[in-house]
Amino acid sequence: MTERTLILVKPDGVRRGLSGEILRRIEAKGYTLVAVELREATPELLSQHYEEHVGKPFYEPLVEFMMEGPTLAIVAEGNAVIEGFRSLAGTTNPTSAAPGTIRGDLGRDWGLKVMQNLVHGSDSEESSAREIGIWFPNL
Ligand code: RTP
Ligand code: MG
Repeated sequence: MTERTLILVKPDGVRRGLSGEILRRIEAKGYTLVAVELREATPELLSQHYEEHVGKPFYEPLVEFMMEGPTLAIVAEGNAVIEGFRSLAGTTNPTSAAPGTIRGDLGRDWGLKVMQNLVHGSDSEESSAREIGIWFPNL
């Protein structure tokens, strides 16, 4: 089966009206959209999704941020899409993310408790399988 990844347009991206621009970049790169759904994250869903970060100092602010509004959950497909989307997204900190990337072009530091960086992308085949199971159990 072709590789799949779980992408989220986080609440800052949806609120700023960047969902279309981010979908455009995924499609322009050549990946196929498998699922796209506007969702309200719950604390339960977020504790599964961000399992690796539970207990870290930024965890509570991260959960608050992720519940500020709707998230656009996306499954995209294509060879090497996991690495390819991480490359489109850019590095975690939007201040230093390279121009040309989603975070580098569209994100900035807002001086808040947690970095608002527009998108999430699975970082390995293991996490993509796990995360797609959390957000889209029927896929
Ligand atoms: P993501 O999981 O959302 O794709 O982002 P990532 O791999 O680039 O970053 P990760 O280390 O997994 O962190 C998850 C999200 O938590 C927020 N964060 N804030 N020190 C901070 O303020 C801080 N560290 C992490 C970011 O929203 C990051 O994307
Ligand atoms: Mg991560």
